[in-house]
Amino acid sequence: MCGIFGAVAGAPVADTLVEGLRRLEYRGYDSAGVATIESGGLRRLCAVGRVGSLAERVATEHPAGNIGIAHTRWATHGKPSERNSHPHMAPGVAVVHNGIVENHRALRSELSAAGCALRSDTDTEVIPWLVARNMAAGNSVEDALRTTDRTLEGSYAVAALHERDPDTLYGLRRGSPLVAAIGPQGGYLASDANALAGLVTQAVCLEDGDLAEVHRDRLVVRDAEGATVDRRLIAVEHGTSSLDLGGHAHYMLKEIYDQPRVAALINDCYGGIGVLSNFLPVAPAHIRRITMIACGTSFYAASVAKRWFESLAGIRADVEIASEYRYRPLPPAEPGELAILISQSGETADTLACLKRLKEAGTPTLGLVNVVHSTLAREADSFVPLHAGVENGVASTKAFIAQLLVLARLAVDIADRRRGLRQDHVLSCLRALEQMPNTITAALHNESAVQALAETFRDARSALFVARGPLFPIALEGALKLKETSYIHAEGFAAGELKHGPIALVEDGTPVVALACSGDLLDKTGSNIREIAARGARITVVGDRGGILSLMDVAVGALTIPNCEEFVQPIVSVLPLQLLAYHAAVQRGLDVDRPRNLAKSVTVE
Ligand code: M6R
Repeated sequence: MCGIFGAVAGAPVADTLVEGLRRLEYRGYDSAGVATIESGGLRRLCAVGRVGSLAERVATEHPAGNIGIAHTRWATHGKPSERNSHPHMAPGVAVVHNGIVENHRALRSELSAAGCALRSDTDTEVIPWLVARNMAAGNSVEDALRTTDRTLEGSYAVAALHERDPDTLYGLRRGSPLVAAIGPQGGYLASDANALAGLVTQAVCLEDGDLAEVHRDRLVVRDAEGATVDRRLIAVEHGTSSLDLGGHAHYMLKEIYDQPRVAALINDCYGGIGVLSNFLPVAPAHIRRITMIACGTSFYAASVAKRWFESLAGIRADVEIASEYRYRPLPPAEPGELAILISQSGETADTLACLKRLKEAGTPTLGLVNVVHSTLAREADSFVPLHAGVENGVASTKAFIAQLLVLARLAVDIADRRRGLRQDHVLSCLRALEQMPNTITAALHNESAVQALAETFRDARSALFVARGPLFPIALEGALKLKETSYIHAEGFAAGELKHGPIALVEDGTPVVALACSGDLLDKTGSNIREIAARGARITVVGDRGGILSLMDVAVGALTIPNCEEFVQPIVSVLPLQLLAYHAAVQRGLDVDRPRNLAKSVTVE
């Protein structure tokens, strides 16, 4: 949440700053701002809303400095407004910040009592004032930042500029990601190395407590003790293909249609038997229990995988919402436990807090991560890259499919290693996974039917998604996707739970998406669907031929998925739901890729 960018060069940096922010916009888009040093003095420009609004101001006002910091905000303290936009300033100093300063109230009172004129409602603003106070006491910028770091509580990344030192950018990392780099044109700081594409070929990943001093042609990183350190270098990919819409109207649609390629890549990387179990931090034979921890869409991937681990591998598997798990009293870890932490970004604060807790308890941890340079990838005992490629749309689609595909392969692998599963069962699961690029392509052929259904959702106020068994988490994901992108109130329910309460919501015309595929639970699901159809629900069935045929008499619409092995039905069933969420949002005229109030990387708790 919140994107930080900084640049120091031999020419004005304003355009570079704005371009950097565009690439970080997925982290928040409530407001954006830059600060540069011009003729020895700080100049700040801000705009409420998307980076595009700031770009317009920069284009008309031409800030001229060769050094600057920039920020795109996801509001935590104080409404989106120019006053609350970063950079925040105190005499001589400007700061941009990602994270939360937890003791900001006490610091604010102390600073205000000392006569500092804080103007915003943010937690961030205490930082420049603390730096200014420490410098007034005779410290260098670096020492003032260090002292400030010791005063702050919370988790944050900060970039700072000071008029007294107009050729140096400062970057401090304490819990939130920050990279620093030097390229042919200058030096940079950014929340994410992808924002540096085209400027540098590699970047330094700062670690907690590091303070980076970035010059045009030189970078010095010091750890919390002040010792100069060499940190891990990561490659920065050239080009901006991830920003290219590839002929699609939105990133979300581009990413939905990228899913066959992702599935093929996962087959290439992890195909066959035994490949993924090599990534495990414990031998498959020793695993007695798996706990999967994640948030949002990643949690629903875990919830599908729970059923796979239990039914295929015969291992007890629990799923935990990271924001709950991190604070729950837990019994001591037992031998044979494996924790799998699942995250597209690898920077989700709650998931990382769980990782820390599990590591302290001595539980072996495996990260399933899309962003390979992320904190989760670095800090878990081992990690499996999801290979979904950059996901730009805030609503996760292809990363979810990648999570499911990797978890499915992992379950088959562990099952094979532990149980010597009946060869034919393992083979049919594997065959279904090998077929996934084609199956996904076939499932996406349905777009015009989905579009027609989405039209019926245009004026809907709420919608229900119902399913049983491994399709139940897909109902939850379908509902989440719809509410995120279209702001329609949507809920997912286990079909068998309807009559325990939710059925009271059903009235004449209530839109219900029923997931129904051939298999043991189809008849049970069918009965539940009939019960709500009898009460006026407008049923659309998403299913294979068998599922749709069995409910034809009560459904008003159907979205067909290809017939496939039961094991992969959840993966295939989510595809029409992604398209539904996309088209419902487009038809309601909403910003599909940047839905209100959301951010792609949730780095605060
Ligand atoms: O990066 P993560 O996978 O850890 O993110 C978890 C959730 O914040 C994320 O899945 C969120 O629910 C998405 N907006 C879903 O589309």
